[in-house]
Amino acid sequence: MEEQVQMISMTTEKTKGFYWGAATSAYQVEGNNIHSDWWSWERADSTRTKAGKACDHYNLFDDDFKLASLLGHNAHRLSIEWSRIELSPGVINKRAIAHYREVLESLKKHGLTSFVTLHHFTNPNWFAKRGGWLRADSPDLFVKYVREVVINLGDLVDFWITINEPMVYVSQSYWQRRWPPQEKSFVGVWRVINNMARAHKLAYREIHRHQPNASVGIAKHLVAYQPADFRRIGDRWVAAVEDWWFNHRFFSLTRDTHDYIGVNYYFLLKKKFSIIPLRVSSVLGKGNKSDMGWPIDAGGFEQVLLHMRRYGRPIYVLENGIADANDDQRADFICSHLRALERAQAKGADVRGYLHWSLLDNYEWDKGFDPRFGLVEVDYETMVRRPRSSAYVMRAIIQQSSGS
Ligand code: BGC
Repeated sequence: MEEQVQMISMTTEKTKGFYWGAATSAYQVEGNNIHSDWWSWERADSTRTKAGKACDHYNLFDDDFKLASLLGHNAHRLSIEWSRIELSPGVINKRAIAHYREVLESLKKHGLTSFVTLHHFTNPNWFAKRGGWLRADSPDLFVKYVREVVINLGDLVDFWITINEPMVYVSQSYWQRRWPPQEKSFVGVWRVINNMARAHKLAYREIHRHQPNASVGIAKHLVAYQPADFRRIGDRWVAAVEDWWFNHRFFSLTRDTHDYIGVNYYFLLKKKFSIIPLRVSSVLGKGNKSDMGWPIDAGGFEQVLLHMRRYGRPIYVLENGIADANDDQRADFICSHLRALERAQAKGADVRGYLHWSLLDNYEWDKGFDPRFGLVEVDYETMVRRPRSSAYVMRAIIQQSSGS
């Protein structure tokens, strides 16, 4: 472990005030989000893995934050479940507000700066039944919920993330048919992206109306696209088009409403174009793969961080992690990605925080509980938490970089 840590030379200079921590999302860890569209969707088909109690983080949050702080973290990202706050249109659940106040106060008590997501893939049932993000009034409905959160909880929030990974949400829910409402249409994709962009802009303004100095952004999933063969113009072209569409389109629709750039990075994809047969495909890298089969490539992390320089804003890494049940690769993954982050900083990317995905093993959406992303292992029978050895490697890096 010492060897691994020494290879990271993040200087105290660069990491002064740097945010170190991990991220989670409500539906994946809290348990019993019975008013959410995912909950209903799971129940519509008996073969689907149910989130159920998940990690019971709804009750165990204080212990979990204490653990995060023992692991050296000074920041934490979590999400608020809209379906708990607004039980039906305009009906605010005071108990849910009180609960999230306790959660955010607990973060403060444990010395963790809060990064709070307002939408992380799930919707209230009533919202989904009305047509969800396809409806023209969806941004207005979202911003009403946002207003309640800002008024009631805003004093405890340090960084706001309006929407997590809008392009992933639209692709899984309105194109690939993997997630609810499992639709597939060009028009749907177009509408949902535009409505989410409008929702972000309205939320940005609403938050700033109440907190002029707020720091507001989104968590953007970025894929490092590269041509499978640099010599082939077709490969270069499809890599550039996908980069524009997936990585930059949402930013271009929401210009001037990002106080920072939030980056989620998992993998690099090599794009290939062929004329006969006419096809665009992705080639996975040759190196190690995670338990999800995702290729591990820290060079891609450097690439996406460098690309984000163009927006001229501070950058926070809000997710980066690996499914690795045996914890064989996680420590190396963290080290190689932090080295990439350092290289990007040296080339001018203003990266000010690194939040690992995830603090805990959790409910990995349609993949159920098998993928293990946690720095901390969760025994789902007993709910006992056990930090993995990679969590201590990360702690040693944090301690070394902050000179403690
Ligand atoms: C999502 C998380 C998810 C993680 C790993 C991200 O795209 O924001 O909810 O668990 O990837 O798949």
